[in-house]
Parts: sequence; structure tokens; C-alpha cells
Amino acid sequence: MKAKAFAKILILIIFSLGLWACSTEPVVDIAAVTAQPKDFVGSDTCKMCHLEHYDSWKMTLHSRMLQDAKANEDAIIVPIDEKAIREDLAKLEESLKVPSDKIYVPQKEEILYTIGSQWKQRYLVKKDDMLYISPIQYNADTHRWVNYHEQDWDKRPWLLKCGGCHATGADLEKNTFKEPGVGCEACHGKGSWHAALPKTAVFEKRNTIINPAKLTMGVAAQICGSCHNRGHATMKKGGGWPVGYEPGKALEAYYKSTSFEAGDVKHVYANEFSKGHHQQFIDWQQSKHSMEGVTCTSCHYVHQLGIPPTRSQTSFAGSKQCLSCHEMISNNLGHSIHSFANCVGCHMPRIAKSAESGDIHSHVFVTLLPEDTLRNPKIPNSCQTCHKHRNEDLKELQADWEALVRLPKPVGKTIESIPYKTAN
Ligand code: HEC
Ligand code: HEC
Ligand code: HEC
Ligand code: HEC
Ligand code: HEC
Ligand code: HEC
Ligand code: HEC
Ligand code: HEC
Repeated sequence: MKAKAFAKILILIIFSLGLWACSTEPVVDIAAVTAQPKDFVGSDTCKMCHLEHYDSWKMTLHSRMLQDAKANEDAIIVPIDEKAIREDLAKLEESLKVPSDKIYVPQKEEILYTIGSQWKQRYLVKKDDMLYISPIQYNADTHRWVNYHEQDWDKRPWLLKCGGCHATGADLEKNTFKEPGVGCEACHGKGSWHAALPKTAVFEKRNTIINPAKLTMGVAAQICGSCHNRGHATMKKGGGWPVGYEPGKALEAYYKSTSFEAGDVKHVYANEFSKGHHQQFIDWQQSKHSMEGVTCTSCHYVHQLGIPPTRSQTSFAGSKQCLSCHEMISNNLGHSIHSFANCVGCHMPRIAKSAESGDIHSHVFVTLLPEDTLRNPKIPNSCQTCHKHRNEDLKELQADWEALVRLPKPVGKTIESIPYKTAN
């Protein structure tokens, strides 16, 4: 009898001890954690505590930029059919530096990673333990294959040329990267300290990770600018991305952006508007928006549940984005004639190229008028992205515009002048 009661009590004690052990977090020595070198841990680690951010990030292209084609065969968006590929390449014969039947076309089994999926797709293959971009490119909207550095593809190592913008935790010394795609730590910095600290150490946790919203506006925008940019690394010869840069640092120290003035006529128009893709930061820096503190994240979200997905992760679809701040503008001058209020059509013309010319929007937010093209035929204008066939005569189109902007501004009625009936 006594022995039984003792056993019961013992079981109870052991049970509650177990409970106590489960309910308390293991004691983590904060000083010991922060004495270790800070490192990348990968988005799957962040997922454990930030599931909502993770889920919404998963729905963005950032998470899918570089995909492991061995782990997920569906990452390859089109059949790798050598015959069809060579047929398409043959159509470009005159501009090829290697004859279309001699260009290296990878077998599906050789493809280790895919790069991109929205505008175009390229494929990574391995040679002498280095990743290279194979010389074929699939353009998604036009469904055609084109060449890509067919003459020197195996002299351009992917990690050095592109790695830091397409993968997270790229390490040139170790010839590796932490995670394919633009992971959490690409924008929030190395997360090992932050992840290792207990949930209850809220302030230490906040202090060990970058929250862009808590940085000054310019420094925060440079995080986006570390990839939505074109130029060369200042710390590493041949580097296409800002080698050594970390979120929160000053980008200029690690990266020199390209410009027309510096001779890059391939990627920039004579008026310094972008002709190449991934240059949104270069455009934006020239805009009134950047001066007034309207940044990338004023218009784009990077992880937010509950917003209906838009093509470019804008908070509102198309021109509604502009009207969320510029409410009145569609009533005045030239604006009123374009009653469909296509702000983006005029202020963000598609004049830059990713896969095919004209698939990427300008981010200077300035309308290019017919007179801009009249002055320099190599500079496009916004109007002809729509008025191409009807208004071939640019002088006429410019004159029509001037006539429009001379229209008197509409004058709103004042409350007193609105006639109303009084009761009696
Ligand atoms: C063990 C759980 C845990 C893990 C793992 C974790 N976090 Fe956190 N995170 C937290 C907690 C707790 C906070 C503080 C919440 C608060 O401020 O109220 C936080 C805050 C943050 C903040 C906001 C900081 C601030 O100053 O406002 C960011 C950004 C963040 N985490 C990103 C990450 C990233 C990126 C990873 C992966 C590298 C990650 N977290 C992994 C628990 C975690
Ligand atoms: C492309 C850059 C980018 C990536 C990738 C990214 N974030 Fe963020 N994150 C931001 C920005 C910018 C903010 C500041 C808030 C804002 O403006 O939306 C932020 C804010 C946060 C916050 C603070 C709370 C909040 O919502 O304001 C947490 C937590 C967070 N991110 C977690 C994550 C996790 C986890 C991942 C990966 C699954 C991730 N982020 C991936 C840019 C990024
Ligand atoms: C590490 C590099 C990197 C950083 C940092 C980065 N991006 Fe990106 N971003 C990319 C790449 C690469 C793509 C193209 C992904 C694809 O096509 O699969 C992209 C795509 C996008 C898109 C287009 C999505 C679409 O649906 O067309 C937007 C918008 C965007 N990024 C905004 C931002 C903003 C805002 C920030 C800063 C908070 C940021 N990015 C930071 C590399 C980056
Ligand atoms: C400075 C950063 C940076 C460098 C360097 C860079 N890219 Fe990108 N790339 C981006 C960003 C940002 C985007 C998406 C935005 C855009 O295209 O305007 C992108 C888009 C792409 C896309 C199209 C994605 C899609 O979904 O259609 C491909 C393919 C691509 N890059 C391949 C490459 C290759 C190959 C290299 C190296 C030779 C390279 N990039 C170098 C930042 C970079
Ligand atoms: C004033 C609002 C606004 C600001 C500021 C802004 N964007 Fe955009 N962005 C847009 C709109 C609108 C689109 C096109 C939406 C559509 O698809 O119709 C777009 C498109 C994009 C795309 C898709 C490719 C393209 O150009 O068509 C990327 C990538 C992008 N923006 C990145 C950025 C980055 C990075 C910054 C900061 C340097 C930035 N944006 C600043 C409004 C803005
Ligand atoms: C977050 C609010 C916000 C959004 C969204 C926004 N703007 Fe702006 N915009 C401003 C502010 C603030 C200014 C600078 C003050 C001013 O000149 O009115 C400005 C200035 C401008 C100017 C330059 C005016 C000048 O005097 O030179 C143009 C053009 C413009 N915006 C167009 C657009 C277009 C097109 C969009 C949509 C793609 C857009 N804006 C979205 C806030 C915004
Ligand atoms: C037919 C082309 C066209 C359309 C459509 C258009 N704009 Fe404009 N907008 C212009 C031109 C041209 C200017 C003169 C300044 C310039 O070159 O950017 C201008 C000027 C502006 C300014 C500067 C302030 C001012 O009154 O001069 C803002 C802000 C602006 N537009 C916003 C918008 C918004 C928001 C929309 C969508 C509702 C829009 N625009 C649609 C051509 C257009
Ligand atoms: C997004 C497409 C688009 C852009 C960009 C655009 N327009 Fe238009 N424009 C139209 C359409 C459609 C109409 C017919 C009227 C309407 O539906 O509002 C029109 C009407 C006009 C008219 C009235 C006379 C006519 O021909 O019907 C003039 C003038 C005009 N546009 C000039 C311009 C100029 C100059 C620019 C550049 C600053 C420009 N448009 C940019 C689509 C566009």
C-alpha cells in the first residue's frame, strides 16, 4: 500500500519534471552565440519562426530565381529538344559567332540549375568543377531559342559573373553558395546569430538581424540596388555583382554602376535611361521619387500575404499604384485626354530589354515625348509604344501633344455655385 503511493508520487514528480523541461527553452548563452562568426543559415531555418513571411516569399520570383533542376525537374519550363533548338539558332545564323550546328547544346541530364522563368530561362552546367551558363536561352513570351555567349560561354564562370544576384551566400573563395535564389538573408543579412538566440530574447534578436524598414531610406533602397543594378564589383576583379557587400552597408563602396557616359551604349540610352534589364535602381536614382523618398518598397512588396498577386509585386495593379498617391492628376492637361489613365504607359514605358526589346519598364518615371526622339533618333519615346502605326509622323504627334497641353485646365465648381433645390 505504502509502496504503491510512493510509486505514484514518484511518477508524478518525474512527469512534472518532464513538463518543466519541455516548457522552458534551453538556456542559450548570448555571448557565446555572438562570439561565433556570423554566417548564413538558409531560408528554411527562418521558416521555423516566420512562416507567414516564408509562405509569401515563396510566392514571389525571388524564391524561384535559381532552381535546382535535379531536385525539381519541372523547373525546366520547356522541352530541351536539341533539334528544335538548333532550328531556332539557324534562323540567327548571320549574327552567330559559332555556326548553329556547332554551338554546344546541353542534354537535359547535364542541366544542374535553371536561371529565371518569367522572361527567359538559361541553364547552368558544370565543367572542371565550375558552374557555367550554357550558350542557349529560351525566351518565354515569344517561345523561341536564342544564342548566349556561344563563343566564350566556358570562360565566364557563373559564380563570379552572376552568382551574388541570383543566389544567397555566394562565396568565391570556397566556390560555393548557401542557397539558390534570393533568400531571406539576401535582404536581411547573415542570420546565424539571430536564429540561434531564444525567442524570448526579443531585443537581442532584433539587434542581430537587418530590418530594412529600420534603416535610413537611402541605405534600405541600396539593398534592392545591390541586385537591381548593373556594373562591376570594386573589391573583386571581374565580379559582376557587389562582392563583399552586406545589407545595411553603403553599396557605392562595393559596386560601380554602369552609365552611357562611361561608354556603356549597349545597356543605357544617351539620356541615361536604361536599355538593359535589372537596372531599376539606376533609373530610380535619377527620379524625383528617389529625391522625395518614394522607394522601391513604396510601390513593391517583397513578402506580404493578402495582396492579390500582381505581375510585378506592386501593392496595386498597374496604374492604380500611381493613383494611390497622385489622386488628382488625371484631370489636368494632356492627362485628361488619355481617359484610361494609363500612367505606366507614359511614365514607365517598356523601353528596356530582358528577353526581347521592350519587355522591361523604365523607372525614371519621366514621359519621353516625340521631341525627345526627334532630337536623337536613338532615344525612344513613350507615345509610340501605343501610337506606332497611326502616328508615324513624330512632328505631328508632338504638335498634337502641344495642342493638348495648351487646353485650359478644367476648373472645378465651387460648392456655392452648384445649384440645388431648397425645401419650400
Ligand atoms: C527561433 C525563432 C526565430 C528564427 C529561427 C528566426 N527568427 Fe527572426 N525573429 C524572431 C523573433 C522572436 C523576433 C522578434 C519579434 C519582435 O520583434 O517582436 C524576430 C525578428 C525578426 C526581424 C525583425 C527585426 C526588427 O528589428 O524588427 C527580422 C527581419 C527577422 N526576424 C528575420 C529573420 C530571418 C531572415 C531569419 C532567418 C535567417 C529569422 N528571422 C529566423 C524569431 C526567429
Ligand atoms: C527582396 C528582399 C527581401 C527578402 C528576400 C526577404 N525580405 Fe523580409 N523584409 C524586407 C523588407 C524591405 C522589409 C521591411 C518591411 C517592408 O518594407 O515590407 C522586411 C521585413 C521583414 C520582417 C519584419 C516584420 C515585417 O514584416 O515588417 C521579417 C520578420 C522578415 N522580413 C522576414 C523575412 C523572411 C523570414 C524572409 C525569407 C522567407 C524574408 N524576410 C525575405 C525584404 C526582404
Ligand atoms: C540578391 C539579389 C536581389 C535583391 C537583394 C533584390 N532583388 Fe528583386 N529580384 C532579383 C532577381 C534575380 C529577380 C528576378 C527573379 C526571377 O525572374 O526569377 C528579382 C525580381 C524582382 C521583382 C520582379 C518580380 C516580378 O514578378 O516580376 C521585383 C518587383 C523586385 N525584384 C523587387 C525587389 C525589391 C523591392 C528589393 C529590395 C527590397 C529587391 N527586389 C531586392 C534579385 C534581387
Ligand atoms: C547586379 C545583379 C545581377 C547580375 C550581375 C546578373 N543579374 Fe540576372 N537578373 C538580375 C535581376 C535583378 C533580374 C530581374 C530584374 C530584371 O530583369 O530587370 C535578373 C534577371 C535575369 C534573368 C531573367 C529572369 C526571368 O525570370 O526571366 C536571367 C535569365 C538572368 N538574369 C541571367 C543572368 C546571367 C546569366 C548573369 C551573369 C552573366 C546575370 N543574370 C547577371 C540581377 C543580376
Ligand atoms: C512609383 C512606384 C514604383 C517605384 C518607386 C519602383 N517601382 Fe518597380 N515597378 C513599378 C510598376 C508600376 C511596375 C510595372 C508593373 C506592371 O507590370 O504593370 C514595376 C516593375 C518592376 C519590375 C519588373 C520588371 C520591369 O521593370 O518591368 C522590377 C524588377 C521592379 N519594378 C523593381 C523595382 C526596384 C528595384 C525599385 C527601386 C529601385 C522599383 N522597382 C521602384 C512601380 C515602381
Ligand atoms: C508612395 C506615393 C507615390 C506613389 C505610389 C507614386 N508617386 Fe509619383 N510622386 C510622389 C511624390 C511624393 C512625388 C514628389 C512630389 C511631387 O512632385 O509631387 C512624386 C513625383 C512624381 C513625378 C514627378 C513630378 C515632377 O514634378 O517632376 C511623376 C512624373 C510621378 N510622381 C509619377 C508617378 C507615377 C507614374 C506613379 C506610378 C507608377 C507614381 N508617381 C507613384 C509619390 C508617389
Ligand atoms: C499621354 C501620356 C501621359 C499619361 C497617360 C500620363 N502622363 Fe503624367 N505627364 C505626362 C507628361 C508629358 C508630363 C510632363 C512632365 C514629364 O515629362 O514627365 C506629365 C507630368 C506628370 C506629373 C508631374 C506634375 C504635373 O502636373 O506636371 C505627374 C505627377 C504625373 N504626370 C503623373 C501621372 C499619373 C499619376 C498618371 C496616371 C493617372 C499620368 N501621369 C498619366 C504624360 C502622361
Ligand atoms: C498606353 C497607350 C498610349 C500611350 C502611351 C499614349 N497614348 Fe495617346 N492615345 C491612346 C489612345 C487609346 C487614345 C484614344 C483616346 C482615349 O481612349 O483616351 C489616345 C489619344 C491621343 C490623342 C488624341 C487624338 C487622337 O489621336 O485620338 C493624342 C494627341 C495623343 N493620344 C497623343 C499622345 C502622346 C503625345 C503620347 C506620348 C506623350 C501618347 N499619346 C501616349 C493611347 C496611348
